[in-house]
Amino acid sequence: MKQIIKKITHPFLKLGLKLFYYKPRSFSYDNIRISVHPDVFPPHLTFSTKFLLDFIQDINLKNKTILELGCGSGIISLLAAKKGAIVTATDINKIALENLEKNSLKNQSKIEILYSDLFENLQNKSFNYIIINPPYYPKKPKNIKENAWFCGENFEYFENLFEQLPKYLKNNIKCYVILSEDCDIKTIQSIAAKNNIFFSLELVKSNSFEKNYIYNLT
Ligand SMILES: C[S@@+](CC[C@H](N)C(=O)[O-])C[C@H]1O[C@@H](n2cnc3c(N)ncnc32)[C@H](O)[C@@H]1O
Repeated sequence: MKQIIKKITHPFLKLGLKLFYYKPRSFSYDNIRISVHPDVFPPHLTFSTKFLLDFIQDINLKNKTILELGCGSGIISLLAAKKGAIVTATDINKIALENLEKNSLKNQSKIEILYSDLFENLQNKSFNYIIINPPYYPKKPKNIKENAWFCGENFEYFENLFEQLPKYLKNNIKCYVILSEDCDIKTIQSIAAKNNIFFSLELVKSNSFEKNYIYNLT
């Protein structure tokens, strides 16, 4: 476990992120161009966002309802909207949400952007797809930015997520969650199992830095 946390809190990686993100950075995918604020999860230096973007690019999302829970920069939501989906993007990072408003206007994209701690403000909604790139390192987040990386010392994010999720996993809905070999997948799966949620492996992608897994939760 210590190894895992060490990787993300490693001084070189921390310094690299700090130097690169001292100002907003632009990011683009499939002709969608966004500006990413320094306090928002960076899609540039990590692989998970790009893996999810490539993954949803191959899905027919026309007229499907989709929730990106914890949208960060919102690039995944913007791609889904471009593919014809009816998109809801949520986060607890208000800076992320404000910037996504601006980026969606710039890209002439129509998505619903909501502040919501997990499903708190999504009570009466249902979706065909839910996409989650969760924070998965077991440490207490010290500020709003760290919520993108740390799920709480005792995996509180996952405890709450899997307690709330079953209500939404009805009617053949697809709920895709991305995890990395860097995280404690066994513990995360055991928290899900307590709530009768099971992980079915959909896709694996590896590069010289890490291996990522996309699971469908059932
Ligand atoms: C790893 S980032 C992923 C961002 C984006 N989905 C992507 O793939 O680039 C995780 C996101 O989840 C958000 N988050 C953390 N805890 C949350 C919660 N309880 N409810 C909603 N969003 C949360 C963070 O603020 C962050 O934007």
